[in-house]
Amino acid sequence: MAEFVLESLGKTFGGALPVTALEDVNLHVRSGEFVCLLGASGCGKSTLLDILAGLETPSSGSARFDGEPIAGPDPRRGLVFQDPALFPWRTIAQNVAFGPELRGLGRRQRRERAAESLARVGLGGFEDRYPHQLSGGMRQRAGIARALVNNPEVLLMDEPFGAVDHLTRIALQEDLLRLWERERRTIVFVTHDVGEAVFLADRVVLLSPRPGRIHRIFEVAVPRPRVRGQKSLIEVEAEVYQAIHGIAHRPEPSEPAALPSSPSPSPSPAYA
Ligand SMILES: Nc1ncnc2c1ncn2[C@@H]1O[C@H](COP(=O)(O)OP(=O)(O)OP(=O)(O)O)[C@@H](O)[C@H]1O
Ligand SMILES: [Mg+2]
Repeated sequence: MAEFVLESLGKTFGGALPVTALEDVNLHVRSGEFVCLLGASGCGKSTLLDILAGLETPSSGSARFDGEPIAGPDPRRGLVFQDPALFPWRTIAQNVAFGPELRGLGRRQRRERAAESLARVGLGGFEDRYPHQLSGGMRQRAGIARALVNNPEVLLMDEPFGAVDHLTRIALQEDLLRLWERERRTIVFVTHDVGEAVFLADRVVLLSPRPGRIHRIFEVAVPRPRVRGQKSLIEVEAEVYQAIHGIAHRPEPSEPAALPSSPSPSPSPAYA
């Protein structure tokens, strides 16, 4: 089991000008599922992922992992960020072995675990290279290997391929899918790229901004292996774009509603 249940989850950051980043988020991420969180910049994607990781706590509602409230970081949940932030003075294997080293694992075991983890992301043979000797895509793979080294049940990935060129990104997406198909770990993957979300995910969770709420969830019922550009994927993409367009053009709370009022008391038809 490796599932998340979020109920009426809200997050407000305090301070002189409090920011409500998330409001009333209800979501069940099933064990082994690949879920993409999609939304505009600032809509709360990273905040939501940080809550799943245990790096942030909800202000209201609850976030549970396998039935337990998420109380802090946990090796069962591996994290991958946009910037892998590898230590430049350590080899790739030493970077990947950093977590096990902190946990007191012996040198030989650390080395074995790191080598195994690097092989899983296609970096076998690169153990003794330093980060500056690798390409951006390879550094990103090393970041994924570092997350895999603890054999986590879940991968939480925050725009992991945001900083690499388009072709490398495509290669990394395909490698990630292969890894997921082999190991069936639960993956929650943050992106603002509609094509990436639809290509990768079982379900795409579209967040709306100010504050982040779940606007709509799209099932991507397209069997794998998927082929980029195939009609059924493009159709889901078109649906997602339409929904994004709807968010962008929904009336501001101060504006009169553009549609004739319906019997529903809902203030915004977009959320019906
Ligand atoms: N530690 C913090 N303190 C105060 N406000 C914060 C903090 N972290 C995030 N926020 C605010 O919460 C909102 C959501 O931020 P978040 O980083 O989750 O957005 P995002 O969807 O990941 O954006 P991006 O796509 O640009 O990464 C923003 O308004 C941001 O300024
Ligand atoms: Mg973010």
